[in-house]
Amino acid sequence: MPDEEMQQKIDEYKKRKDKLYLGGGKDRIDKQHKQGKLTARERISLLVDEGTFEEIDIFVKHRCTYFGLDQKEFPYDGVVTGFGEINGKKVAVFSQDFTVQGGSLGEMHAKKIMKLQDHALKYGIPIIGINDSGGARIQEAVDALYGYGGIFYRNTLSSGVIPQITIIAGPCAGGAVYSPALTDFTIMVDKTSQMFITGPQVVKSVTGEDVDKETLGGAKIHNSKSGVAHLLASNDEEAMKITRKLLSYLPQNNIDPVEIFPYDETYRLSEDINSMVSPDPKKSYDVKNIIELVFDPDSFFEIHPHFAKNIVVGFARLQGQSVGIIANQPKILAGSLDIDASDKAARFIRFCDAFNIPIITLVDTPGYLPGVNQEHGGIIRHGAKLLYAYSEATVPLITVILRKAYGGAYIAMGSQHLGADFVFAWPTAEIAVMGPEGAANIIFAKEIESSENPEDTRQKCIQEYKERFSNPYEAASRGYIEDVIEPKETREKLIKALSASFSKVESRPSKKHGNIPL
Ligand code: HXC
Repeated sequence: MPDEEMQQKIDEYKKRKDKLYLGGGKDRIDKQHKQGKLTARERISLLVDEGTFEEIDIFVKHRCTYFGLDQKEFPYDGVVTGFGEINGKKVAVFSQDFTVQGGSLGEMHAKKIMKLQDHALKYGIPIIGINDSGGARIQEAVDALYGYGGIFYRNTLSSGVIPQITIIAGPCAGGAVYSPALTDFTIMVDKTSQMFITGPQVVKSVTGEDVDKETLGGAKIHNSKSGVAHLLASNDEEAMKITRKLLSYLPQNNIDPVEIFPYDETYRLSEDINSMVSPDPKKSYDVKNIIELVFDPDSFFEIHPHFAKNIVVGFARLQGQSVGIIANQPKILAGSLDIDASDKAARFIRFCDAFNIPIITLVDTPGYLPGVNQEHGGIIRHGAKLLYAYSEATVPLITVILRKAYGGAYIAMGSQHLGADFVFAWPTAEIAVMGPEGAANIIFAKEIESSENPEDTRQKCIQEYKERFSNPYEAASRGYIEDVIEPKETREKLIKALSASFSKVESRPSKKHGNIPL
């Protein structure tokens, strides 16, 4: 039994801690719940494996004396930080507590986050940030800005070393938005979260535009239009579930391998796949149906599902091994590559490459999207990112050309010329500089114009071009594709190619860093 003095100290310690656990107090917690939001601690307990969270720095206090803050105490300075486990693996977590001074970020709040970032990087473990904050603590002025700067700097140092995931579960305004933007994946909770550089009032005063906060920076807008958010959750619980699932596809850091999941060894690709892609290039289909069949059942986890839907990216498993998938979506814009699709795919490729996740590309694209908007929006600059991302990637790269692979888009979509290890083509593949109609109109222009029946001649020329190039054999004859395969063989071919290339080691010229077009 401890003596009386010791017991008093223990009681005092417990009293202090219990008071801290109340955060901003019952009224503010009730307000949080009424808004459909969980508290910072409730969120953590849903995120990590039960009983694994170990908090640090609960006794940290702010040091600001301006505007009466010397009279106020903010429990744990409004952010809960610590370590836990997700799916049995260590993670670092911080969760801003809106019930404590609006989760605003001052010097000590920021220092707690920075300390956690430093630890996560040293330990080689993923870091997850749950944001719910009024932004820079206005009373702390430049100290708050110091805090954000320090967090951004550490986000950048950690980039490509440990996975960084952000959940936006409340307001995220001003410069605060840039930490999430520097992380790998951002998940936003529908209706209760918003992100913007300046809120509706400032927008109104500067540009005269009338806009509400949901339209300006709500979860749906950032998931579908700006592409700032990668995943949409219907509530806090779902956001935590999504994060746990996402982590199951990722390694702990850029050196550790990803865990191999158990898989059904008896699973075979159904013959149905042979009739899923029509040889008629005008007939579209949903490439996600092909992905669902080819990879381990129920393993496909789409990233950015609402943004730039003309390209599909996401994780899946092949015999339990995590892989990244990039696939043109013929259902949307015929699967053409535009500005947003290029950005979306390039960023995903770079993530996979940084974390040693093999990349599998499924190609069916008529090319880069033509148009004044695209040209003036910088399709050249954005499209170049895709070329750059594939070319710099040193993970196993395996490509399957399902149907159209024309021009620059053929090169950009994981071609052998950019470093792919294996390129397979289905018999429906068409690999050429451009589609037969466009090609015939250009190279046979004089013949068509001068003929007695231009339309007949045009059709004949188109047919001639099709016979020559609308197939995979011309490319195969030069060794630009490794094999022409029956669709039903795709899974087996991918498994064998992955197994052959898994030990791939490729070095690049030594440099400080490359200069990806931005
Ligand atoms: C200090 C803040 C605060 C802030 C909220 N609070 N934001 N305190 N600094 N940034 C306090 C409130 O005073 C209040 O304290 C408590 O938190 C809860 O806030 P409410 O306003 O009552 O909550 P709600 O009505 O839900 O409104 C939430 C809100 C609003 C929309 C986020 O609080 C708001 O507009 N806050 C300011 C947002 C902002 O402009 N932030 C600065 C962005 S600029 P009491 O004691 O009354 O409970 C920025 C620059 C960073 O972040 C640059 C980095 C590079």
